[in-house]
Amino acid sequence: MKILVTGGAGFIGCNFVYYMLDKHTDYKIVCLDSLTYAGNLRSLEKAMENPNFKFIKGSISDKELVNKVFEEEQFDIVVNFAAESHVDRSIENPFIFLETNVMGTACLLDASKKYGVKRFHQVSTDEVYGDLPLDRPDLFFTEDLPLTASSPYSASKASADLLTLAFHRTYGLPVTVSRCSNNYGPYQFPEKLIPLMIVRAQENQSLPVYGQGLNVRDWLYVDDHCKAIDMIIHNGKVGEVYNVGGHNEKRNIDVVKTILSQLGKPEELITYVKDRAGHDLRYAIDPTKISDELGWHPETAFDDGMKKTIQWYLDNTAWTDEIKSGEYAEYSKRIYG
Ligand code: NAD
Ligand code: DAU
Repeated sequence: MKILVTGGAGFIGCNFVYYMLDKHTDYKIVCLDSLTYAGNLRSLEKAMENPNFKFIKGSISDKELVNKVFEEEQFDIVVNFAAESHVDRSIENPFIFLETNVMGTACLLDASKKYGVKRFHQVSTDEVYGDLPLDRPDLFFTEDLPLTASSPYSASKASADLLTLAFHRTYGLPVTVSRCSNNYGPYQFPEKLIPLMIVRAQENQSLPVYGQGLNVRDWLYVDDHCKAIDMIIHNGKVGEVYNVGGHNEKRNIDVVKTILSQLGKPEELITYVKDRAGHDLRYAIDPTKISDELGWHPETAFDDGMKKTIQWYLDNTAWTDEIKSGEYAEYSKRIYG
């Protein structure tokens, strides 16, 4: 079995590469990644030592390159993680989100059709459902909800989902789509809430909480997401969408306080800042379908996952220091001063 993992130098992609190399020791994994600010070859250092792993630098939007790679490698399965993934950056500049998330996905779908890929899996997000009200804890995202994206990022992901499903209906391409809630764990770029707060708290910097910190996210440890994708590409029904999430809703302010308490840092570091434009209020996944059909359940409790994650950042300051010295230093200065 040969699998193309796009975006494998990013957070979830690299965790998926390790998960698959470990679980399926006879599979070949090829990673295609253009190494944007969010892609980091250091995250794949250990995979590079495995003869079953190969890295190719290139963009999923480069049609010629994508076709060449598909012709040479003859993939059985494609798992598309490659994306611009940060909501705040999409608010600053939407266009690269359309190029990568929509046009890039179209290039991969086209090549998958041309070269007879047996399964195309689109890694999507719960953000394509828009948001839920804070005062209706009885409501959850189910797969049959209409797509109502709030940010340029989620609009681009919703477009990619629709394209993927259209390639199934129109051309019979065997596709699946997963829509997961917020992930956390090792190798997450420190612009996202959890690693941002860990890294800043370690340095006694202020922790910028948007609005009043009352927005709710449904957190899932990254390995549980990887396990779900592995199950879907092997046993999921073609043409279907699967929601992935473990009923682990937390208010942002409570997540930040947990980090401070685990690091032994004072709550005075918290600074309430201007809210994100169009800020989604609450995400909450109903995972009944994936759990009933495929037997998926999350294995990592939030407290354990947070302990592992915080310890990983404490043990890997060289990884974050390198990131902070690059393009991210400029972005961080612009956004947080
Ligand atoms: P990330 O930003 O950490 O990584 C994205 C990776 O894609 C990087 O390695 C980057 O270099 C690569 N990339 C970007 N543009 C590319 C292009 N044109 N060609 C090839 N590679 C390109 O993102 P992540 O958090 O790991 O998210 C991965 C996927 O999972 C995304 O599709 C995202 O929408 C989805 N998702 C993320 C979460 C989450 O909580 N992080 C939750 C649900 C779904
Ligand atoms: O739900 C899945 C999505 O989760 C993925 O599709 C996205 O790729 C991923 O980035 C994530 O989106 P969010 O916008 O939910 O994640 P982020 O870490 O940016 O923010 C989480 C919450 O924390 C959100 O309510 C905004 C808030 N926040 C974020 C940052 C960066 C703050 O309060 N302060 C901050 O500095």
